[in-house]
Amino acid sequence: MPSRQLKLGANLAGVGNSISFWRHPDVPIDASVSLDFYKKQALKAEEGKFDLLFIADGLYINEKSNPHFLNRFEPLTLLSALTAVTTNIGLVATLSTSYSEPFTVARQFASIDKLSGGRAGWNVVTSPLEGSSLNFGKGEHPNHALRYEIAEEHLGVVKGLWDSWEDDAFVGDKANGVFFDPGKLHTLHHKGTHFSVQGPLNVARSKQGYPVVFQAGSSVPGKELAAKSADAIYTAHETFEEAQAFYRDVKARAAAYGRKPEDILIFPGIGPIVGKTEEEAERKYEEIAGLVTIEQALNYLGRYFEHFDFSRFPLDEPFPDIGDLGTNSFRSTTDKIKQEAREQGLTLRQTALRASTPRTAFIGTPEQVADRIQHWFEGGAADGFNIRTVVPGGLADFVDLVVPILQQRGLFRTEYESATLRGNLGLAVPRNRYTAEREPAR
Ligand SMILES: Cc1cc2nc3c(=O)[nH]c(=O)nc-3n(C[C@H](O)[C@H](O)[C@H](O)COP(=O)(O)O)c2cc1C
Repeated sequence: MPSRQLKLGANLAGVGNSISFWRHPDVPIDASVSLDFYKKQALKAEEGKFDLLFIADGLYINEKSNPHFLNRFEPLTLLSALTAVTTNIGLVATLSTSYSEPFTVARQFASIDKLSGGRAGWNVVTSPLEGSSLNFGKGEHPNHALRYEIAEEHLGVVKGLWDSWEDDAFVGDKANGVFFDPGKLHTLHHKGTHFSVQGPLNVARSKQGYPVVFQAGSSVPGKELAAKSADAIYTAHETFEEAQAFYRDVKARAAAYGRKPEDILIFPGIGPIVGKTEEEAERKYEEIAGLVTIEQALNYLGRYFEHFDFSRFPLDEPFPDIGDLGTNSFRSTTDKIKQEAREQGLTLRQTALRASTPRTAFIGTPEQVADRIQHWFEGGAADGFNIRTVVPGGLADFVDLVVPILQQRGLFRTEYESATLRGNLGLAVPRNRYTAEREPAR
């Protein structure tokens, strides 16, 4: 077995990972708010020895939002239910640093981490949509740079709070009436630019130390935040070359912070469509793509640009010049959409359809999909993949048909190595900072 092993996440999204998915006859219409649906998907991913479940999120909707966004579970609430029905798989929830308090976030994730025996993860996002501010009464939506500045301080506070208790603080000495060792309780006393948090946190660390920290944001400040402070980064790339360039960039940025390449794992999201033959895979793609109306595709595209109304432009003329629009929301995504449209001379219609139902490199027979995964993994473009279900039964097809090939090739586990998410991802357990200060370099 080669020492470096592929990592896999299942990005679960009810009716959501493609906009027309809900219209397919095989998709339960209430999937986004059905515990039964999520439970089945979670167990399927666990059967496939996936490292983790991954739940994305958002904080603002309007009538143009994707159907899944209109009526879905809050991620931590969902994962606390899935904790009870799963055993090994990691549980990663998205939560925004722009619209949350570090104390609450630290407490919620530490609780999921304890409930699950060390399987929790936090996907740090900064909330792209300006409308989010309307739901929180905190004034104007912070701009892109400010959001990342807040995120950095927020994450620092959360990590500080997670170290409130050293691992052996709760002595539980009944005979002498000593519940905890006060020398192993630490109060953070954080006073920063954006947060003021005294601490300590009222829950101790789990056996994986901290929940695993993902970051989703691929702009320069996003990459910097991840390179400095995250364990993993969730990203999206259409081509191998683009993914490889991103991978090298993030690893180099991490090295500049004194981190080793294996300290930060890079997970592109992909939506594999697997058929017994190439034609069958193609048919599955066409079936879903054929259900998308151009109005829906324009709405989907528009959301990345602050729900911009693209319907005012002619569909079959070059993608319109919309200036800076998008740079304050989904910047890395909108930059890419604009660049590709310009370089490849795409029309508005083509751009909208490509964004809403992308024809990716991961459509084909199980062998073809496994080959591409192996190529990206061995060619330095990914450490793992977040598998998005873009056609009905997509996750089950992947588990039943692609995972066995990856296992036969020695690329992917046949059994979980560890009971914790960090253990399975091969990430070190961060030592409690106060223990490390007192007892340096064991
Ligand atoms: C692959 C990817 C996934 C993302 N997932 C989420 C998400 O689930 N929820 C969210 O609010 N923002 C999400 N974001 C948005 C970022 O957190 C961020 O707010 C926005 O993209 C701007 O950052 P960027 O320009 O660094 O990508 C995602 C971004 C990317 C690139």
